[in-house]
Amino acid sequence: MSIFEGLITDLSYKGQGVTRDPTGLSIFVHGALPGDVGKFRIVTRKKRYGFAVLEELVKPSEHRVTPLCRHHGFSNGLCGGCPWMMIDYSEQLARKDQIVRSQLLRSKLLHQDLILPSIISSPQSTGYRNRAKFRSDGKAIGFQSSASNALAPIDDCVVLTTDLRAKLRKLREMLPNSKWAPQAGRPLVTIEVDELTRVEDVMPNLPIRFHQGNSQQNDKLKCWLRDRLPGGGAKRSALELFAGSGNLTKVLLSGSFQDVFAFDSDKKAISDLGKNFSPKVQVGVANLFSSIKAVEGMPGALNAEVLLLDPPRSGFSQLASLVNKMPQLERIFYISCDLASFCRDVAKLSDEWVLKEVQPIDMFPHTPHIELAANIERKMTY
Ligand SMILES: C[S@@+](CC[C@H](N)C(=O)[O-])C[C@H]1O[C@@H](n2cnc3c(N)ncnc32)[C@H](O)[C@@H]1O
Repeated sequence: MSIFEGLITDLSYKGQGVTRDPTGLSIFVHGALPGDVGKFRIVTRKKRYGFAVLEELVKPSEHRVTPLCRHHGFSNGLCGGCPWMMIDYSEQLARKDQIVRSQLLRSKLLHQDLILPSIISSPQSTGYRNRAKFRSDGKAIGFQSSASNALAPIDDCVVLTTDLRAKLRKLREMLPNSKWAPQAGRPLVTIEVDELTRVEDVMPNLPIRFHQGNSQQNDKLKCWLRDRLPGGGAKRSALELFAGSGNLTKVLLSGSFQDVFAFDSDKKAISDLGKNFSPKVQVGVANLFSSIKAVEGMPGALNAEVLLLDPPRSGFSQLASLVNKMPQLERIFYISCDLASFCRDVAKLSDEWVLKEVQPIDMFPHTPHIELAANIERKMTY
């Protein structure tokens, strides 16, 4: 397809550089950043937009840096795990702030009283990641290329913690490995590892339990929440959805809640949560995307004054209908790992609710990922 020269003027919320082709069509380009002038080859053209690859960098942006990782790249065989590694860190943060602001504006959630501080930067932009999902074909180990589903073999990964880098070295020593050979229909297996994993026990395609991937930023998230919990009132209760094994439940319990009701679909996580925090926490296992009957059926859960939710990327589109069933609800804390689903869910709340504060947190430097912690309050009526 055709090649054209252009200037990248923006970054999409998914992290791709944005330019226009000579006909005025918006074109998204992986690995290009605002200020870059390049020659772009269009690979897909749709009615309203298209995708291109950077064929030649004519003039680099002033924010372009040399990536810290030799495996970084956008073509086949290179790792697409840190697509912003060629942007200097302070510019990454500035761009994330801009993306949050413009998505809130588009969703009509930006208002003059909204508290919207700058993103909380990660103290470490390398060595922070405490969990990894490697891919293997039984001969090599690495991540998936962004250009295809092919393996991008790696010998090291600078964003992993020291512990995980050592584990990667050990995993490489276990190659070739017939147990990691791809199964029928699947070109690669996944090898998930975190700081609790013993390399000797690793099993292909076995998911590990969710926990936040950047421990220092998780501590900041918990502090943010702790500082905003309402105090006082002997009979206050909280409902927590997508509680996992209780990372944020611990914070709720540091507040003055008499009861906490916690739900998640992960049976093992929720059973550990129940054991660890009994008797103050009542737990329920539920697929919250198919039904909220389990929540409705737990005595007291819908009478909570505080709702905390931390859903996966798809968000929680039933938020507005659940909130309508909670007459005593005063405040919602929405922790989100996806700006688009967060905006969709909050925009559906009735005008009894006001988005008071949105705090972006940088969990994953060198990626476009943005974590949000938001405080939503019921408007006071006198
Ligand atoms: C972003 S994690 C949050 C976990 C926890 N709050 C934490 O900080 O570790 C999302 C959680 O949603 C849960 N989850 C995913 N799909 C679900 C579903 N359909 N119904 C209920 N929980 C679900 C996962 O098990 C996971 O624990």
